[in-house]
Amino acid sequence: VSASCSVLAISVNMGKWFWLCYLRNPGKIVVVDTTGNRRSNLILIGFMGTGKTCVGQRVAKSLGFRFVDTDALIVKKAGKPIAAIFEESGEDAFRELETAVLQSCASKENQVISTGGGIVTRPENIEILRNTGYVIWLRASVETILERTGRNNDRPLLATPDPAATVRKLMGDREELYRSAAHLPISTDDLTLDETTYGVAESARLEFAACRS
Ligand code: S3P
Repeated sequence: VSASCSVLAISVNMGKWFWLCYLRNPGKIVVVDTTGNRRSNLILIGFMGTGKTCVGQRVAKSLGFRFVDTDALIVKKAGKPIAAIFEESGEDAFRELETAVLQSCASKENQVISTGGGIVTRPENIEILRNTGYVIWLRASVETILERTGRNNDRPLLATPDPAATVRKLMGDREELYRSAAHLPISTDDLTLDETTYGVAESARLEFAACRS
């Protein structure tokens, strides 16, 4: 617990373990029941451009966990870039690979797993995610996402005439899916990369400590 950081996480024992995560905006207190027998993995979910990979790599270093990225594993398995998978085989084929890769991660421990933004679109993945580790949902506004994803064009789903409208539509469609998969949501818009990394790493440490006790 650090009062000097903009992310303050407090765990309290109320018969079960609950977490209160207080982010910079007062009033945004999220209570999450984190009980259950899941594996000691940290999983980052969230829309494209929310910083899952960047934050995940840093958090993995901080926790001494292995970093894995489902998109990178898919590319390795398919032997071609994501855009080529979408173009040559279609989104369904990509989702098949995504589920297979997620399943392969599910049997291991001590990993930080960064996932593709659409992983929650398959109901079976949501169940796997929640059983495989502590799931943190990185959130960001449409504006932040457009700013970040506009820097490169490696996301086939955003290669549309109106990426802003596409982001809004996909985010709307997925909001409840992310919510149902996540143990903890964190809004990153007002946080620096260091602050997000700190919040995620400390939340995970507290979670894993609570599970051990
Ligand atoms: C996708 C997100 C991408 C990648 C693929 C599909 C999505 O990952 O898996 O382009 O459906 O949101 P990132 O979230 O890492 O960009």
